[in-house]
This record gives sequence, C-alpha cells and structure tokens, in this order.
Amino acid sequence: MEEKIIDEKKQGQALTLEPKEENSRKLYIESYGCQMNFSDSEIVASILADEGFNTTNKLEDADLVLVNTCSIRDKAEQSVRKRLEKYNAVKRKNPKMKVGVLGCMAERLKDKFLDEEKIVDMVVGPDAYKDLPNLVKEIEAGRDAVNVILSKEETYGDISPVRLGTNGINALVSITRGCDNMCTFCVVPFTRGRERSRDPQSILSEIQDLAEKGYKEVTLLGQNVDSYLWYGGGLKKEFKNASEMQKATATNFSQLLSLVAEAHPKMRIRFSTSNPQDMTLDVIHTMAKYPNICNHIHLPVQSGSTRILKEMNRQHTREEYIQLIDAVREIIPDCGISQDIITGFPTETDEDHRDTLSLMEYVKYDFGYMFKYSERPGTMAARKLEDDIPEAIKKQRLTEIVDLQLEHSAYRTHQFVGKTVEVLIEKESKKSDAHWSGRNPQSTVTVFPKEHYRPGDFVLVQVEDCTGATLIGNAIGFSENN
Ligand code: SAH
Ligand code: F3S
Repeated sequence: MEEKIIDEKKQGQALTLEPKEENSRKLYIESYGCQMNFSDSEIVASILADEGFNTTNKLEDADLVLVNTCSIRDKAEQSVRKRLEKYNAVKRKNPKMKVGVLGCMAERLKDKFLDEEKIVDMVVGPDAYKDLPNLVKEIEAGRDAVNVILSKEETYGDISPVRLGTNGINALVSITRGCDNMCTFCVVPFTRGRERSRDPQSILSEIQDLAEKGYKEVTLLGQNVDSYLWYGGGLKKEFKNASEMQKATATNFSQLLSLVAEAHPKMRIRFSTSNPQDMTLDVIHTMAKYPNICNHIHLPVQSGSTRILKEMNRQHTREEYIQLIDAVREIIPDCGISQDIITGFPTETDEDHRDTLSLMEYVKYDFGYMFKYSERPGTMAARKLEDDIPEAIKKQRLTEIVDLQLEHSAYRTHQFVGKTVEVLIEKESKKSDAHWSGRNPQSTVTVFPKEHYRPGDFVLVQVEDCTGATLIGNAIGFSENN
C-alpha cells in the first residue's frame, strides 16, 4: 500500500489527448507523484498545445520529453532519475529531442540537473509553466533554459487545462497551490512555495465547462484545502475599511464547497487533502447538507503520538484528532475516512508506534497511504533531528501498520455487504471485461456485471460480497442522480 497517492497505473505513464490538426510537433509528458502534479501536467499540455505540440505516448517519436516530478520521498526521486536515464538513452539516437524536468525536483535540484549532471535541457518549477513558450524557444535555439521562480500569486486560474488520459468522467480541479504549514518532514513548502487560493469564479467556470463536457465528478485539490481563503471584491465605500471589506466578502472552503455543490447538484464533489488542524465543523456540516458532496474525508494523521506530532510541527494533538473524528462520525455517520501515516520519524519509540496502532484501532480507517520516513534535505527535521530509526525497525513498523490497515479496510468493506450503494461507473473492471468498476461515495471500489449500463452512469448496486478492498454486487437500477 505504500506510495499510492494516485491510481498506481497512471504513475509515470505518458498520458495523451486528442491531437489538433494544425500542430506538428510532438510532446511526450509523464507525471509522477501527487494528484496536483497530474493536474499541473494538464495545464502544461494546454499551454504547449497553443505552441504547436500534440501529445504522443511514444517516447521515440517525441520532439520534447517532459517529466513532472515528485520530491516527497527519496524513492520518488529515484524513479524519476531512472526515467531520465532512459530518455537520455533515446536522445543519444535522436539528438534533436529535448528533455525537460518539471515540478518539485526541478525546484529542488535546479541547476544540478543542467550544470553538474547535464542530463536535461530545461528545468521548470511548478509556478513557471506560463513561461514555457519562451523556455521552449530557448532550448530550440540550442540554449539551456531554466525558470524555477516561485510565485505568491500564480494559480493558473486563467488557463483552461486540457484533460490528459481522461475517461471523461472524473476530473481534478486545483483550488489552492503551495503550502504554508511547514510540517518538519515535508519538502512541499520548499518546492511549491507559499499557499495561495484561486478565484472562486475561475473554479466555478472550470467546473461549468467540465459539466458541459459531460464530466460527472470533480476532485477539488490543494495541499490543505481547508485553508482555502479568497478575499473577494466589493465596493470599498460600503465598508469601514479594507480589512472589513475583505472579511465580509471572503470565501472560505466550506463556502466554496456550497457554491460548487449548489451550482452542480448532479455532479459528485470530492476534495483532497484535509489537514486536521484546519478542518472546521462548518465543512463537515456542509458535507452533510449536500448529497452530492461525497461522504469521504482524506484526513492524514501521520502519527498517533502527540509527542511525535509536535516534533512534526503538526498543529494538533492525538486527542484533538480524535475529537475531530468523533465530530465527523456524529455529523456524517457513514463517512469514509482515510489516512496518511509516516512511520519511523526521528526519535519514534515503540510506545509512539503503539500510539499510532491504537489510534488506527480507534478510527478503523477505510483505507490509507503509509510511508517509511524519508529524510528530505533542507527540511526542519533534516536540519534538527537525526534520522535515527534503523531501516529494519522502520520496515517492521510499516508492516505492522499496513497489516492493521488491511484488517480495517476489510472490516469497513464488510459493513457494506447487504446494503445498496450508489456507484459512478468509471471504467471496466481490471479483473473482468464483463464487469464495470466505479466507486461509492466513501470512495470504495465497487464492481458489478455490466448489463446495459455505461461509464458515467450513476447506478444503485446491491452489495453481495467483498474482498479486502473491493465491493462486489449487482446493479438494481439507475440512481436518481442520472
Ligand atoms: N498535504 C499534502 C501532503 C502531501 S505529501 C497532501 O495534499 O496530501 C503526502 C503524504 O506523504 C503526507 O501526508 C505524508 O504522509 C507523506 N510524506 C511527506 N513527506 C514525507 C517524508 N519526508 N517521508 C515519508 N513520507 C512523507
Ligand atoms: Fe507537507 Fe504538511 Fe503542507 S505534509 S504539504 S507541509 S500540510
């Protein structure tokens, strides 16, 4: 279960879109890491489509190869390095081909790639994609190109992203960029810069566009969606001063959720990621109020030990997290809850580890993403704390955590047996071409015989059976959402 942030099959796979006839150059673009990277690659492909590039999934055919990279753990960086070796092997046969690195590794390793290692032609950080037309001209003129300037404002709100490798049903919509939290283990604030929120009108118009194209589900994305805050306009003379005006016209995350849910009552709405310290009761009540906001919260806890949480600079205790879970369970009894956990953070004792296991017992998460601590250069933890938990202990603890999660996932899926759930059909089941696969609102994968249903249909499924992580059933009709 380690390392699964997005559909694993998509990691590193070149995703393509409908070609434009007038475009003659070929772009090969691969993405690694979080959903935000996948969403950013759609912005990049959209910008380059206007520069004469169609996408290809054949590396050998590409004029330009771009890899959108992840720095979150050392392992993620190593996978990208292997890919860079591969691109360079192809490039030796086709010297006209250009290679560029995008995203977090571009930001973190900057000129190391260009000057020391000389393995790429172009390095572009996550806030510099609008500069791509200039940067591409530079590399075509035979010069290296780099732009890793982080912005306090860039949200790409004015770019309407093309959808790469899409099923035409689920789409990712960024609502914030960057992060101001400074969890001590995390490289994101360094690679993605300060947090900024996107204009709600541009979010709404992107979703309107998706709805018109037939999309059925959007996931609102941010490193910490609950801290979304847009200071709206307004006429100054109506208020005492600018700060009053800002307060009165601001949009916070729960208001944004309501706006989206009301504008598109038939669209499923998901969001990720919620940070426990910022999640408000308002957000939970808003979820409960609108049936089209899916009852699922991805609520990373990282550790069950208050002492470790403090070392991680997470702004909540174990008890506060439990209170939040209790509130969610009370307000939305059938809410799916998932986690991220890091094991083997510096100084983590057996007792701390047991605290994590006992917290998991309390919550019984539906699913989760679990990682061994990986020291990231430049972070506060790397500077202040020795990475002192031996690899064998990290491994052992991770195994215990993953095993417990598997038990809890099985327990949660079992709770659905005998019930009817609403499923949005996304694709054919991986295991059988006679079955559809989709998810219920809690985000549990559900498979059932195809019959006359089609991808994009909302279907009521009577759950008959389950495996550890998947529900198995039969469709009993369309849901009223269709
Ligand atoms: N707020 C972000 C978190 C991004 S990183 C979000 O939108 O999900 C995703 C997860 O990777 C984190 O929740 C954490 O569990 C894990 N992670 C981050 N830094 C890590 C590190 N240095 N070592 C191991 N896991 C890490
Ligand atoms: Fe990283 Fe913490 Fe932000 S995990 S992305 S610094 S909320």
